[in-house]
Amino acid sequence: MSRRRILVTSALPYANGSIHLGHLVEYIQTDIWVRFQRMQGHEIHYVGADDTHGTPIMLRAESEGITPEALIERVWHEHKSDFDAFGIGFDNYYTTNSPENRAYCEEIYGSLQAAGLIARRPVEQFFDPVREMFLPDRYIKGECPKCGAKDQYGDSCEVCGATYAPTDLVNPYSTVSGAAPVRRESEHFFFRLSDPRCEGFLRNYTQQAGHLQPEAANKMLEWLGAPGDSKLADWDISRDAPYFGFPIPGTLGAKFFYVWLDAPVGYFGSFANHVDRRAADGIAIDRDHFLKPGHGTELIHFIGKDILYFHALFWPAMLEHAGYRTPTQVFAHGFLTVNGEKMSKSRGTFVTAASYIEQGLNPEWLRYYYAAKLNATMEDIDLNLTDFCARVNSDLVGKYVNIASRCAGFIGKRFDGRIGAMAHAAPGAGTQPSLLEDMRAAQASIASLYDAREFGKAMREVMALADRANQYVDHEKPWELAKQPDQEARLHEVCSTALNLFRLLTLYLKPVLPKLAHEVEAFLSIPPLVWGDAASILAPGHVIHPYRHLMQRVDVKMTDALVAANRQSLPGSSQAPAGKTGAGAATATGAGAGAGAARAMPPEAASAEAETNAKAKATGAKSTPPAAAAPGTLTIDEFARVDLRIARIANAEKVDGADKLVKITLDLGTEQRTVFAGIKSAYAPESLVGRLTVVVANLAPRKMKFGVSEGMVLAASGDGPGIFLLSPDDGALPGMKVK
Ligand code: MSP
Ligand code: ZN
Repeated sequence: MSRRRILVTSALPYANGSIHLGHLVEYIQTDIWVRFQRMQGHEIHYVGADDTHGTPIMLRAESEGITPEALIERVWHEHKSDFDAFGIGFDNYYTTNSPENRAYCEEIYGSLQAAGLIARRPVEQFFDPVREMFLPDRYIKGECPKCGAKDQYGDSCEVCGATYAPTDLVNPYSTVSGAAPVRRESEHFFFRLSDPRCEGFLRNYTQQAGHLQPEAANKMLEWLGAPGDSKLADWDISRDAPYFGFPIPGTLGAKFFYVWLDAPVGYFGSFANHVDRRAADGIAIDRDHFLKPGHGTELIHFIGKDILYFHALFWPAMLEHAGYRTPTQVFAHGFLTVNGEKMSKSRGTFVTAASYIEQGLNPEWLRYYYAAKLNATMEDIDLNLTDFCARVNSDLVGKYVNIASRCAGFIGKRFDGRIGAMAHAAPGAGTQPSLLEDMRAAQASIASLYDAREFGKAMREVMALADRANQYVDHEKPWELAKQPDQEARLHEVCSTALNLFRLLTLYLKPVLPKLAHEVEAFLSIPPLVWGDAASILAPGHVIHPYRHLMQRVDVKMTDALVAANRQSLPGSSQAPAGKTGAGAATATGAGAGAGAARAMPPEAASAEAETNAKAKATGAKSTPPAAAAPGTLTIDEFARVDLRIARIANAEKVDGADKLVKITLDLGTEQRTVFAGIKSAYAPESLVGRLTVVVANLAPRKMKFGVSEGMVLAASGDGPGIFLLSPDDGALPGMKVK
């Protein structure tokens, strides 16, 4: 088998929403595939990044009173820790807001321009005259032209179901400023997808060499239209300032690359950064071997079906005409439903990765469940929570772990941890060796199922083998052999055989259950299993460690608690899931994705399905802004927007010329902030140093006469004299969230 050299990517999640169980379908799918290929000995580079640009991110940062850079930095850490918790083994997790990405974007754009593939045309769009910015349609609301319902979005009415264009709305207003939007014209830049060169290329590319799954290739035929009657429209790649993104060279900061232009280029940016980091460790990777044509390497993208259009049309066409290699394969998966329905905040099934971890569920349960459900098609997959519990308990605990738990103890207690000879060691001399041989023989088919992304079939095959291993143990009954002094040798053989079978099953499950496999390797005292290890056994005399239980059963109470924790409790569909980024995070993501996807598709090319998906994402947007609470009260969402943190006063000093202020340096665990607090009348600055207090961490920085105050410490005061700084109870640490 020749060594494959593969650059693998998962889609880059938006940097303003929490990772949820839907996203995880993709990251888990990719990670399993990557781990499998690595166990085969192939050279794999698996890169990802946060997708950080665009209007929703800009506006969200603004509403939090922080810079977009600060927002994407915070979210990056949240995403990274979610991915780590679920064992997603990126070789590099980066950001699209990077110098590497910018350089590639400029270069690719320059090449397309030189090739005559960039056009400029005026475009008329909604403009917010107060905020002075062009508005994506998602930010326009108004009255339904049909039934008059208020506060409807520009595409359809949630009350009567009518669909219409944003220009049809009665009394439209900008959700950013509340002002009535006006139509305004501006010059936009287009990638000339309608150029015969692009069309010709795409007709070949999408239909050839297995670049796309058959169903995806068919979809592309629809989108391309009949030869001679192309449906490809030029793609608008520019946005006007203000915009958070990369400025288009030569436009003096007036125009920016549309986020969907720089996002896929971000794959290359992350890879380039990975190459540099490896070089710093003395490992040389030639980046051109992966990014330029003709080096026999592969470029493989895992994506959701909603973003196929970008990955199967725009991106390959851009690469082809800018002198880069094109993707070897684009693997699209379907969407996650929970209990048969779209994830829903009100039902509590819009579950964030962070809440799954916080509720104490084992990430490998989900990895296994998804693996058992995944195949190579774009069909949606359902997470049925009852089935989830049943499947994990019966397969992982009841079948797989059960083999070790029934046999390992005897090896430890009765044989000093020493493995014995296998039962009927001679091949063919009984059922057991043939079981071992059958298990080995299954290796090739399990491998080809993994390679073809037929993980569900692979899991069924592995579990059928686990069933047989259990039948063997049931039949031999080591617990009875253990009661018979004359059966000592037999007991040793049976348990050693069972542990060898268990080792092979572990090998086959390792791409799905890396953490558990690691624990098994430690328990069996063996080096990390690789695919070729199926040929060997635990040799007689090999000593293993005492057995400790490897996996708990999942209790329905846990999934119930998970749903409860994610369920919004207030009326209306206004709340984001309980997640670290808080209210509006996921919803803003939805807005960006929906608006972006819908707009980027020429209407005639956008299939019903693509529209549904764009809308599916966009529905999240319907929930912003949070529902208005009764006057004087606050919704939980509004409160959650206040980022209260524990901080340690690292330094405090008086401010020359200010008789009320103390200049305080706060340590928030991950960063330091300066705040000015009017507490000098109550506290001598030196007395404050070292103590803990509570700070509003997302207050907009305020420029004061003596410097910028980057937050606010909380103190109590009444009508009488005295100011009383808040302190947490013992045990709180800097950076902890107060909620
Ligand atoms: N930022 C873009 C991708 C840019 S790639 C150059 C984006 N981000 S996203 O956060 O909305 O989605 C990231 C990935 O997760 C996408 O591939 C998307 O299809 C996938 N999923 C998001 N929600 C999903 C489900 N509910 N189910 C399955 N996958 C889903 O799109
Ligand atoms: Zn209506």
